[in-house]
Amino acid sequence: MNIKVEKERRVVIITLDRPQALNALNTPLMNELVAVMQQYDKDPEVGCFVVTGSEKAFAAGADIKEMNTKTYLDMFHEDYFAGWEQFTAIRTPKIAAVSGYALGGGCELAMMCDIIYASDSAKFGQPEIKLGVIPGIGGTQRLTKSIGKAKAMDMILTGRMMGAEEAESAGLVAKIFPKETLLEEVKSIADNIASYSKTSVMIAKEAVDRALEMGLREGILYERRVFHALFATEDQKEGMQAFIEKRTPSFGKS
Ligand code: CAA
Repeated sequence: MNIKVEKERRVVIITLDRPQALNALNTPLMNELVAVMQQYDKDPEVGCFVVTGSEKAFAAGADIKEMNTKTYLDMFHEDYFAGWEQFTAIRTPKIAAVSGYALGGGCELAMMCDIIYASDSAKFGQPEIKLGVIPGIGGTQRLTKSIGKAKAMDMILTGRMMGAEEAESAGLVAKIFPKETLLEEVKSIADNIASYSKTSVMIAKEAVDRALEMGLREGILYERRVFHALFATEDQKEGMQAFIEKRTPSFGKS
């Protein structure tokens, strides 16, 4: 196995575990990660994923040693990297807890998560240009949408790394924690998200994702329609009633 999986209450923590390759993302690792997440995605008891790596590397990229001899036709017929679309299709929120290197596919994996928290040691980069290629798991698109054209061009054309502070001020990272406490802090945020109604969390996440793909008018209408839809759930009744009764709501899976 190339990953370790633990379940703590309603949170599933997945640790990338290929230390010999700085967690480089090969096909077996991708398949294991997607399979585990698909299994828990359907579980109403699971409200959030945390994806993390080691102190040295979240992931140092797609596996160069798996790719280096492939031809164009190999890549085309395997539809290499297409499997990552199944990772993005996971509907339960996924948080990246990043320490050390998040390079190439590692940076792209973090960006395929819904929130990135980083330790002060994190280093983000898209160094594919140095290998004679370009980002191939969404980096040119997601990085640009996340931090804007100026910084995305700078990162992708020079291949330079960006430290945690710059990544936070650019809007790539939501918050920085000391590396010693990163995972505990992120688990506690994940616990908090998982304590809410899974239905409304999934719908909120879907609506925010739509903001990157729709015009404002359509996005606002989409938001209003799914907001209305939440009034068909027990969780909405429970959430609002609990507020009025000054108690903690008890959310189910409706
Ligand atoms: N693929 C395969 N193996 C990798 C790897 C990768 N992306 N990154 C590191 N490794 C391996 C190294 O080959 C080395 O293995 P050996 O001991 O067998 O030689 C081991 O991990 C440790 O790495 P280093 O000795 O290089 O460690 P370092 O501390 O000196 O340097 C580093 C760390 C700066 C991250 C350096 O390893 C590095 O530059 N890695 C490659 C980063 C990169 O180019 N990533 C992009 C990959 S392409 C991609 O991701 C395409 C895409 O868009 C999806």
